[in-house]
Amino acid sequence: MPLAIHCAGNGGPEQLVVVPVEVSSPARHHVRLRQTAIGVNFDDVYNRTGLYPLPSLPHGIGQEAVGVVEEVGEGVTGIQVGDRVGYAIAGAPGAYATHRCVEAWRCVPIPRGIDDVNGAALLLKGLTAEMLVRRVWRVGPGQRAVVHAAAGGVGLLLCQWLRHLGAQSFGVVSSREKAEAAQAHGCHHAIVEGEEDFVACVRAATKDKGVDVVYDSVGLLTLMRSLACIRPRGMLVAYGNSSGAPLPLDLLELSRHGSLFCTRPSLSDYTRTVQELQRAAQALWTVVQQGAVKPPPITTMPLIDAAGAHRFMEDRSRIGAIVLLP
Ligand SMILES: NC(=O)c1ccc[n+]([C@@H]2O[C@H](COP(=O)([O-])OP(=O)(O)OC[C@H]3O[C@@H](n4cnc5c(N)ncnc54)[C@H](OP(=O)(O)O)[C@@H]3O)[C@@H](O)[C@H]2O)c1
Repeated sequence: MPLAIHCAGNGGPEQLVVVPVEVSSPARHHVRLRQTAIGVNFDDVYNRTGLYPLPSLPHGIGQEAVGVVEEVGEGVTGIQVGDRVGYAIAGAPGAYATHRCVEAWRCVPIPRGIDDVNGAALLLKGLTAEMLVRRVWRVGPGQRAVVHAAAGGVGLLLCQWLRHLGAQSFGVVSSREKAEAAQAHGCHHAIVEGEEDFVACVRAATKDKGVDVVYDSVGLLTLMRSLACIRPRGMLVAYGNSSGAPLPLDLLELSRHGSLFCTRPSLSDYTRTVQELQRAAQALWTVVQQGAVKPPPITTMPLIDAAGAHRFMEDRSRIGAIVLLP
């Protein structure tokens, strides 16, 4: 019997419960997948807590998975039964499941040489990194960037991709172990927040010039201080809220820090068409296959322990990504 994890209500990880489900044949333009590896993302925590509300409660949860196509709906072209595909953001959350129907156009082939677990650790986080370094801000040789949560799932990919593009990164992390992990994944200067002040470190290392771009996924605890790291006319990219939603930003702050730009990108808005999605996935698989960007360290856990995976996601001890196995 197919199983899924439902979020029963907003609250702690105990809200994630295992339920038997029926998965019908795929509707027009959809495919049905037998899922083999499911990526856990911090955004799933926001859905569970209610920061990013689910469409209703109880509701399925999870945004990405890799699996095998079991059945194709009417009108689907380019995907066949037996294909190995992955998706990252495909309609409402519901990826924590053994089987699922999703819109066919949201599926991307997983190249040979990337196994299902690595695919599920790479797809959503890697597409996010692609969006951040190639499209939200075009990173080039000689640029400097601050990466918050540099030893997290997205952070380790971001550090590697920045180095690949010839940029220097300052990675902010919460422990020495994480600092070592970030450096082992291409980060040039790791800063252990708590032991050091990241603004002071960045300003000193750049001789007070500041960096071109800050990638801030931590939000509440860091966003305002991130502004002080940026050179005039540089960019603040606020793309997450792992410490809580940031306080409202006074536009005059952007002027005070030197005519800064600020954006709040979402992967869904950067993969709005099949062409955008496929181009982004192609860019990701290219850097992975070149060996320039390696998958992060992965902890696998059983799907039925999704609650445990969320506890691990939130306790800040983790390095890299978590993948659930059905
Ligand atoms: N905008 C988008 O489209 C998009 C897409 C994907 C992901 N994201 C965002 O990108 C970020 C990274 O996602 P991820 O899945 O790879 O997660 P992650 O970075 O692996 O985990 C979150 C990290 O945030 C840091 N953190 C700081 N304060 C925290 C707190 N109070 N509680 C828990 N963690 C805290 C921790 O690193 P330290 O302990 O080193 O501080 C933790 O490892 C998240 O904020 C996510 O929402 C955004």
